[in-house]
This record gives sequence, structure tokens and C-alpha cells, in this order.
Amino acid sequence: MKLIYQQMLSFFFVILTTILIVSATIFSYSRNSAYQQTWTQLEGYADNLRDDAMQVTNSQTGQTKDLQASFLRDLEFVLRDQEVSFTVYDATNTRVYGDPMVSAPALNKSTWKGLEQGKRYRQETTQNQTDLTPSTKKRGPARTFVIVPWFYNNKMVAAVIVSSRVTQIQASIDQIKNNLLIAVIVSSIAALILSYFLARFQVSRINRLRTAAHQVAEGNFEVQIQSHDRDELDELADDFNKMITSLKVSNEEIKRQEERRRQFMADAAHEMRTPLTTINGLLEGLAYDAIPEESKGQSIELMRNETKRLIRLVNENLDYEKIRTGQIPLHKKEFDSVQALHNIIEQLTKKASDAGDKLKLHAPDKLTTYADYDRFVQIIFNIMQNAIQFTQNGTINVTAKDDYNSTTFIVKDNGIGMTEKQVRNIWERYYKADPSRKNTKYGESGLGLAIVHSLVEQHHGTIQVQSELNVGTTFTITFPNKKASEKNDTNHESGKK
Ligand SMILES: Nc1ncnc2c1ncn2[C@@H]1O[C@H](COP(=O)(O)OP(=O)(O)OP(=O)(O)O)[C@@H](O)[C@H]1O
Ligand SMILES: [Mg+2]
Repeated sequence: MKLIYQQMLSFFFVILTTILIVSATIFSYSRNSAYQQTWTQLEGYADNLRDDAMQVTNSQTGQTKDLQASFLRDLEFVLRDQEVSFTVYDATNTRVYGDPMVSAPALNKSTWKGLEQGKRYRQETTQNQTDLTPSTKKRGPARTFVIVPWFYNNKMVAAVIVSSRVTQIQASIDQIKNNLLIAVIVSSIAALILSYFLARFQVSRINRLRTAAHQVAEGNFEVQIQSHDRDELDELADDFNKMITSLKVSNEEIKRQEERRRQFMADAAHEMRTPLTTINGLLEGLAYDAIPEESKGQSIELMRNETKRLIRLVNENLDYEKIRTGQIPLHKKEFDSVQALHNIIEQLTKKASDAGDKLKLHAPDKLTTYADYDRFVQIIFNIMQNAIQFTQNGTINVTAKDDYNSTTFIVKDNGIGMTEKQVRNIWERYYKADPSRKNTKYGESGLGLAIVHSLVEQHHGTIQVQSELNVGTTFTITFPNKKASEKNDTNHESGKK
């Protein structure tokens, strides 16, 4: 059964039960008071007519000499509308007056005793029990009656039964019954309507929760349910809102982590491609005997270095915890960057000559640089690779120099260059200045400079680019020296706090 009907039914039963209880109470009260009223009236007749109905001659014995039957008959005639009738028993419990057709109970011993003690009896009679006239044994009409003793000089001289037909009482009771029935029907209809609205109100509140839950299930975490802090349903709405908020937070966290994972995977793949290409080239050279005997040792050394770098890269980049927290620690140390540049140039010479480019290095014999060695190689390699990629038959000048508290590296080419708009966007992930520049030879993911930029930032270094279309491009990168870098690190740490 639908909730609305369940609610309606329960509301309806509660209201209906209340109505029935109230009606029953009113009915019983009205019926009682109708009887009480009649009895009081009948007792009033009995009390008032005593002296007129009885003529007591002997005041000593209290003996009834004469019952004024004509007086009682007249009185019955006067009160015929109410159908009042009298039955009188004398001191010996002998019926001395009364219409034999009218029902009146015989007075048994205990009633008589009670009467002698001054008790009065009131009886709601029913036809079955007492409406049999003693003489005729005929069923008469239902009557209600009172039994009142008459005393004279503290001695009971007679007992009178004053009775009246119950038709009138019955009529008023029937009237009350009818009224109550109408009241019950009307209020039941009202109760039905009221319970429908009450149920609809409650069910609509539950439906609001249902709709919201449905929306959340479909991935909408923006829903919020209004709550007025009134009852348990409002509390439920509050809890529901809290649940949505935390679901939203964890959903965002999942998305963020997925994005980070994707980014790390892409970066790692990008960086692994370079050493793998170098190794592959050297292996092919060895396989086809294209490498002179005296250079073979050097080639093998280069391959070893590149495989080691590859292993380090895999260890660093693919560590799940690092991907999750978005941190790749830098192992900064001082090293000779000129040596590193020689290595890089050696690896790129083939690519450069394939493009008809010359690589020139302008550097002192030794230049101490403070950085993560692998990341440094990654940065310079990317920049130089780009220079070769976008320069045909040109020259790429690489300059390394020591500044006051940093080391600076400049990679200058005279290739195709970029427009101002292109320069503004090159740091964005997946940005390719011009899709027509696509050159599958070196991979074209548009990730290189984004990675370079983030790595330089992690070193607290700077990277700048100057470029002119069809003239060339110059990248300038600086790495702070050890002292400056450590100062930067402490500033950065305290800034975080
Ligand atoms: N030296 C350069 N001369 C001209 N354009 C350049 C130069 N370096 C970068 N660009 C432009 O900047 C874009 C972004 O460079 P980035 O290195 O990020 O990506 P990519 O080289 O296209 O792809 P990859 O991810 O393989 O490096 C390049 O596509 C290119 O258009
Ligand atoms: Mg690139």
C-alpha cells in the first residue's frame, strides 16, 4: 500500500475513534439526564400529592382510612399527556389503587424493607422484565417509574409507584441519536479530507528526499534540501545534506586524483620516450655496425646512463603514493652542469644533424649548478629538443654562465619562431602552437614545456622565452645556487604554514 494511504488511514482512524468516543459520551450523558429529569418529576408528583391523596384519620396508628382514588384519577387525567399513572400499596403491601392494565412491579420483601427505611427506587424499565401486568400477564407499553414511600408520623403508611411511558424519553434519545449520527458522518468526511491533506504534506516531504537521493545517484551533488529544524524528517534532511556534502568532497577528490594520475602517466611516458629513443638509436647503430669501434665504449656508457635515468624516472614517477599526493621530491645537489650539457648534446647530435642543425655550446670548463640532476637533464633536453624540432638547417647556441647567485642557461635557435599569442600559451598542457607543426618524429603531445615550467618552478628558478616569427626563439633558464635555493626552500616552508 502506498505511504500516502497508510498515513491517511492512520490519521483517519485516530480522528474517527476520537469522534466515536466523544459521541458515545454525549449520548450516554444525554440519555441519563433525560431519565434523571423524568424521575425527579415523577418523585415530585409523589411527594406533592401525598396529603391530598391520603386521608389519615388515626394519627396515632397512621392507619389509612381513605385513599382519595378520585383525586388520583383526576390527576392521571390531567397528566394524560405524559401518560403518568399511579399505583398505591397500603401499609400491608396490598395494592389499593392502580390501573391493572398499567404495568407496575410487585414490591418484594427487600424493596419493602428499603422503603420502610426511607429509600426511594428509580427504575429504567424494559418491557421484558417488568412490563407484565401482574393481573393480566399481558405485555403493556414500556414505562419508567419511581417507588416512593409515604410516611406519616415516622411510620410508612403507603408506597406509591409513579410511572410514565418512556415514549417521550425515547423520542428525545432518538433525536439525540440522529443528531449524533449526522455529526459523526459530517466529521468523518471532514476527518477524511483532513487526513488526506496531512498525509499528503508528510508524503511530499518524504518525496522531496527521494527526489534528492535520485539526483545524487545520478551524480548531481549540488542538491540541498530545505530544513526548518522542526522534526525528525528535518533532521533527516540535515543529515542528508551533510551526506551530499561529504559525497561531493570525496567525489571531487577522486576526480582530482584521477586527473593527477593521468597527468603523471602522461608526463612519465613523455620523459621515458627520450632515453628510450637514444638507447634504440645506439642499439641500431651497434646492430648495423654504424658506430666506429673507438666510440662503442662511449655509446655503451651513454646507454647505461640513460637506462639508469630511466629506472630512476620509473621509480620516481610511478610511485602510487607520490601520484596520489601530487609530490615528486627533488634530490637537489651540486654538480657540474657543463658535463651534463656535453652528455645531452651528444645524445641530440644525431637528431640535430638529421634536421641539418648545428649545436654549439658556449660554456666555461666547469660550472657548478644546484639542482636535481635528472630534472635538470629533463629541462634542458626538452628545450633543446624543441629547438631542433622547430629549426631546419640552422644553428642552436647553448650558453651556460654563472651569475651572482644563480646559474643561467640560454638555448637560442634561428628556427621558425612564434607569434606573441603563441608565446603566451606555450606553458599550457597539450598546447601546440600550430597543428601543422606536427612532427611525429619527436612526439607531439604538447606536454614538454608544461613539464619544464613546473620543474623550474619547483627549483624556485625562472624560465623566460623570447621569440619572433621566422627569426628564432630563445629560452633563458636560471637555477638559484645552493645558498639562494636553501633560503627559498625555508621561505616556502614557512609560507605553507
Ligand atoms: N624553439 C621553438 N621554436 C618554435 N616553437 C616552439 C619552440 N619551442 C616550443 N615551441 C612551440 O610551443 C609548443 C609547445 O611545446 P612543447 O614542448 O610543450 O610541446 P611539443 O614540443 O609540441 O610536444 P612534446 O610534448 O613532444 O614536447 C610547440 O608545439 C611549438 O609550437
Ligand atoms: Mg617539445
